[in-house]
Amino acid sequence: MCGIVGYIGKQEAAPVLLDGIKGLEYRGYDSAGMAILESGIKNEELRVRCIKAVGRVSNLENKLRSQDLSGNLGIVHSRWATHGGVTEENAHPHSDCGGNIWLVHNGIIENFKELKEELLSRGHKFSSETDTEVLTHMIEEMTNEKSEMRNLEEAVRLALRRVKGAYGLAIMDRREPEKLVAVRNSSPLLLGLVDDEYIVASDASAVLKRTKKIIYLNDGEMAILSPDGHKVTNFDNQTLAREPEELDWSLESAQKGGYPHFMLKEIFEQPEAIENSIRGRLLPDQGRAKLGGLADIKNKLRDVERIHIAACGTAYLAGRVGEYSLEEYAGIPTEVDLASEFRYRKPVFGKKDLMLVISQSGETADTLAALKEAKEKGVLSAGIVNVVGSTLARETDAGVYQHIGPEIGVASTKAFTSQVAILNLLALFLGRQRGMSLVTGQRICEELQNLPDLIRLILERAENIKAIAEKYQDYNNFFYIGRKYNMPTALEGALKLKEISYVHAEGYGAGELKHGPIAMIDENFPTIAIAPSDSVYEKMVSNIQEIKARKGPVIAIATEGNGDLETLADDVIYIPKTLEMLTPILATIPLQLFAYHFAVLRGNDVDKPRNLAKSVTVE
Ligand code: AGP
Repeated sequence: MCGIVGYIGKQEAAPVLLDGIKGLEYRGYDSAGMAILESGIKNEELRVRCIKAVGRVSNLENKLRSQDLSGNLGIVHSRWATHGGVTEENAHPHSDCGGNIWLVHNGIIENFKELKEELLSRGHKFSSETDTEVLTHMIEEMTNEKSEMRNLEEAVRLALRRVKGAYGLAIMDRREPEKLVAVRNSSPLLLGLVDDEYIVASDASAVLKRTKKIIYLNDGEMAILSPDGHKVTNFDNQTLAREPEELDWSLESAQKGGYPHFMLKEIFEQPEAIENSIRGRLLPDQGRAKLGGLADIKNKLRDVERIHIAACGTAYLAGRVGEYSLEEYAGIPTEVDLASEFRYRKPVFGKKDLMLVISQSGETADTLAALKEAKEKGVLSAGIVNVVGSTLARETDAGVYQHIGPEIGVASTKAFTSQVAILNLLALFLGRQRGMSLVTGQRICEELQNLPDLIRLILERAENIKAIAEKYQDYNNFFYIGRKYNMPTALEGALKLKEISYVHAEGYGAGELKHGPIAMIDENFPTIAIAPSDSVYEKMVSNIQEIKARKGPVIAIATEGNGDLETLADDVIYIPKTLEMLTPILATIPLQLFAYHFAVLRGNDVDKPRNLAKSVTVE
């Protein structure tokens, strides 16, 4: 997620902006830039000075030291690349053709390609590959449309009417040196009030050093800020009465959005993470997925006859879920390997195989090695990766970015659900290239679009799951069992508990119990059974009965509306109904929360569990 800070007031803007963007470094980024409207230029047209740097904010700071930027109005940005590589040209701020309008953006403009083509056809000159830059040129056109000069906020309102997507914006115009405009639509943005100064920021971490008086903008709201005061309006220019609130957060808690740990924040971010992973990628009317990152290999994908998936840890388990979707809905034989095993096997590739690697960080050594092995054999490759510009993203022939922002907690949560959602997008994409019907495709599109709200329903019950974790907090051994799509979910649930609470947890295909593991079941060995109302539900009920017959405690994950397990299991956690292929995304949420609360009760460092790193860049 990008970081935005804007300042207007009586102080020098640069130091305030630098302090602010440093407070946002935790969000992850790959480049930074600042623009200051220079004051003190007598009788000359006011000038905007813009400095950018790839890499750390300190690189930008070093560049600023050699410039004597002076001005009371400015914007600064730390970029988490989504569209366009990691370069100075793509770093924000961006400006219009005339260098009048300057803005910074957090979010994704869905229809930027269509807007950019229109703007280019009208002679606009672009200096970056970003989606963001279209906004400056759209606003430019609106400031002097048909020779009618409009003020900045009016031009912004009109320009945004054509824009689809998520945006948090801070905008200035050198022709209106006493004004800073902030706009929010689906990307968080707030105002910090400091007497007669204002700071606009993506989150409170950027302003807490200077003020705790905050106004959180809501979607569809705009703030017009000047040294004389501020005004908040909606996009129809109706003034809104918005009273500031007093934040009693520390800087650290602000970076966690008020949550005690990044992991819990990221569990609760999953509705937005799924929204961002599927944003602009569904064509419901056509029952198809639109995956721009695969455009270059689209025709080769039509001929693919086998898919090899290689990944590690949670990413591997997402791949295991994807195996079911790709076979059931695309009809393509799929095999999934631990990357650490794949790289030492002698994998046999066919001429029409696809190598699919999955990695949140894009830097996992074993996954990189597996990809290298496939590439050396000339196999077509694609990636599902979160970090834009990461090694895996650059080494594959094509790919699909997750767009979920940085995942800071070592235990992967939103990355898993995002990867499974994207694997289902891929199954839809490939399936519609093959025999999948329009109706089936439309149904999958519809259910994918419903996912964020279904996750929200589960998150509303988080306290119930916390209570269940408290009830089982003294146990030291757990089984997680599932079948078909939810066998990998069981393994993922066990991994979550293991890696942050350090207790023994084992995931198994439920059908395997009788082949050995059930010997371990007794009253001291609880089982979490993932039993949604799906094609293997009856089989799961039998497994639960086998466990109960041996006095094993059972926590069941069931589909709401099905009360049958109330009398059988010791505890039941309900998830909303969805397509069987999407149940892992819902079923994993309670497992994440159970593991989180269990680990907190054990007093562990949930965000930085012992012996683990967020990205395993060595073998
Ligand atoms: C899972 O919670 C762990 N963080 C770990 O297994 C992780 O999924 C694995 O190391 C793969 O990381 P990647 O997605 O960055 O490649």
